[in-house]
Amino acid sequence: MNRILIKDALTETPAGTEVTLCGWVRTVRTSKGGFSFLAINDGSCLSNIQIVADEKLPNYQNDILHLTSGSSVLVRGRLVDSPAKGQSVEVQASEVVLLGKADPERYPIQPKRHSFEYLRTQAHLRPRTNTFGAVARLRNTLSAAIHEFFQSRGFLYIHTPIITASDCEGAGELFRVTSSRQGQEATPTGEESADHTDEFFGRATYLTVSGQLEAETYACALGKVYTFGPTFRAENSNTPRHLAEFWMIEPEMAFCDLAANADLAEEFVKHIFSTALARCDEDMKFFDQWIDKTVIETLSHIADSGFERITYTEAVKILEAADRQWDYPPAWGNDLQTEHERYLTEETFGKPVIVTDYPASIKPFYMRLSDDGRTVAAMDVLVPKIGEIIGGAQREERLDVLTERMAQSGTNPADYWWYMDLRRYGTVPHAGFGLGLERTVKFVIGMANIRDVIPFPRTPRNAEF
Ligand code: 4AD
Ligand code: MG
Repeated sequence: MNRILIKDALTETPAGTEVTLCGWVRTVRTSKGGFSFLAINDGSCLSNIQIVADEKLPNYQNDILHLTSGSSVLVRGRLVDSPAKGQSVEVQASEVVLLGKADPERYPIQPKRHSFEYLRTQAHLRPRTNTFGAVARLRNTLSAAIHEFFQSRGFLYIHTPIITASDCEGAGELFRVTSSRQGQEATPTGEESADHTDEFFGRATYLTVSGQLEAETYACALGKVYTFGPTFRAENSNTPRHLAEFWMIEPEMAFCDLAANADLAEEFVKHIFSTALARCDEDMKFFDQWIDKTVIETLSHIADSGFERITYTEAVKILEAADRQWDYPPAWGNDLQTEHERYLTEETFGKPVIVTDYPASIKPFYMRLSDDGRTVAAMDVLVPKIGEIIGGAQREERLDVLTERMAQSGTNPADYWWYMDLRRYGTVPHAGFGLGLERTVKFVIGMANIRDVIPFPRTPRNAEF
């Protein structure tokens, strides 16, 4: 078909050029003067292109007059300067081929505003809407920018396994993996075999909650690496910021401490935000107009401002002194709740905050124990409206301390012999973090619910499509 994208027709192609375009009809208007005006969209950009179809076209009566929203067409014609407001060019059609009809009575995406809840039930068609087309393009641009960020700094992209036998975060929020045959056989009595030796992998396996432990092995050989992959958590939390399947980017650096790790995280987040502003101009203006009227201002402000850095202990003091009612009163030793995180970043500082040095008792075994014996070299990056978007740490590189920390957290060092080996042979200080892609996209566009920034959301009781 040798078509060009509507994006290119609208911006890069001189008037007078003969073009072939394909797309889905958004709206049709028929004028009494013997013309139909079709607005078509092919997903390459937010804008539609206007097609002017003359009644002299041979299939005008049979096809063109019956076109409805959602039907697909191929159009050949000449690009001409448009007299209409709000568009520079339009296409004077010499041929309009109807590729696929869409029954106007039944097509689920009518040319009107649908609620995001409704569109989640039509996830296979929601990318045809302005909002979800824009979300998909933004996700794509940010994913490319993430690779560029690390590639230009000498990080190697590595692929960590999706099926794993370890529980990196130690939170027990794991999905079990077994073969479908064994899924049926393993539980005739409702009980699993205790040693799992008859299972596919000969042991209990899970979908990964983080590629970090495996990334550490490559960082402790290649220096600087990152992962970018799907992550699974069986948290039963039905919140606007949790998914059971989400994408995480996890850089890991050898010869690196917490301060340098935090600096990288700040640079990384700013890079993502400034890329969204620079490369997704049309879509960002759309989000700013229709989703959250503050997103462009907020992103510009963050791209220019330094992130605050405070310790967990300082954060708890600020929260305890705050004049407000908490659902969960803050106290040293308890994890920060979203309400606390948001207070710090929204009310206290008015910009992103990196909180470091959390109590060892609330953090996973792999975080480096500090000299005070009660905090670890942890860091969370908090942003307004969401709270945490990054969690990271300097890793415990001392074998004896790590063994002790594992014992305290009920983790069996024998199961992690390979992870311990990194500390046995040429151990080095190292650090890294994980950024949740969906929380980042949610923040960038101001979307209220995380389910609306991923193509096919997986949440408790929901795995349609
Ligand atoms: O803080 P977390 O649990 O950190 C880790 O997994 C570390 N192993 C990362 C590392 O140091 N390499 O998760 C990191 C980020 C969170 O800050 C959040 O953005 C995102 O992953 N995240 C989720 N996003 C959506 N839904 C969920 N259920 C999420 N859980 C974590
Ligand atoms: Mg975390």
